Amino acid sequence: MSEYLKGFIQENVPKIEAEMYALVQQIQAPQMLKESMLYSLKAGGKRVRPLFVAAVCEHFKQPLHAAYTVGACVEMIHTYSLIHDDLPCMDDDDLRRGKPTNHIVYGEALATLAGDALNSLSFGILARLDSVDAEKRIELIRLLSETAGAQGMVGGQVLDMDGEKRQLNLTELEQVHVNKTGALLRFSIESGAILSGATIEERQALIEYAHHIGLAFQIQDDILDIEGTSEQLGKTAGKDIASDKSTYPALLTLEGAKAKLEEHYEKAIAALNTLQSDSTLLLDFATYIVQRNN
Ligand code: IPE
Ligand code: IPE
Ligand code: MG
Ligand code: MG
Ligand code: MG
Repeated sequence: MSEYLKGFIQENVPKIEAEMYALVQQIQAPQMLKESMLYSLKAGGKRVRPLFVAAVCEHFKQPLHAAYTVGACVEMIHTYSLIHDDLPCMDDDDLRRGKPTNHIVYGEALATLAGDALNSLSFGILARLDSVDAEKRIELIRLLSETAGAQGMVGGQVLDMDGEKRQLNLTELEQVHVNKTGALLRFSIESGAILSGATIEERQALIEYAHHIGLAFQIQDDILDIEGTSEQLGKTAGKDIASDKSTYPALLTLEGAKAKLEEHYEKAIAALNTLQSDSTLLLDFATYIVQRNN
């Protein structure tokens, strides 16, 4: 990872996390529900999605306080998606972010409800984000609803389940990745463009960048599931083969998956190169996404 990106992460992750924990602490809700929500939020994670919101705002030389709040919202949605993804009725995992999964600690019912609560909370926070004008706020809420819901992450999870019963073809597999993982990454990147008042051309270039980042991110997730250890990943390695998942390595072999990863990396960079401004931070971020080892 470049020193520049490392510095950016070290400076911003504590601020993103402080904002996110404060937003949950201050709600009036049953104590055990808050505890279960905070358990998964505080378990760690790379915070890639909020970092993307902040990195795009930084790219446009904007102040970052609204990015921290919007980033906290997308991280809450992502965390809810992980809590549900790990449930026995889905991937049935007992390790996440290096800790026992939410349902192992709090039981399936409370884990499900903690996920639901994180989902709803994030929309309320966006609605109350007074430092951002109302028009932009509505756009953020619309975009989050689309990317997190049936047309995005949730829809992708449904397609992913379908891929357990039969091997999907490349077009179908791309649809799974674009939706289950790509959609929230698109929200992260596009919301930064909205907050920064980017032009239509800039926004289009960033959407294209996000598309390839999303695919690359999940291809690397599939590769790490094979090449990584549970200790390194903080989640159970080898899960995809054990559950007969349709993945890029399963369809294209490990080598083929790595070639696809490289292809999407190149395309992400090409999209950035159409931006007028210096895009070193977003370039370094793309490199990190494909080289990450957890
Ligand atoms: C894991 O996401 C699930 C996918 C969408 C691939 P991350 O790799 O971002 O998980 P954390 O947030 O760092 O734990
Ligand atoms: C999960 O994909 C994507 C979402 C949670 C939306 P995976 O099932 O591959 O994620 P991991 O490997 O459990 O983190
Ligand atoms: Mg899954
Ligand atoms: Mg999973
Ligand atoms: Mg995975």
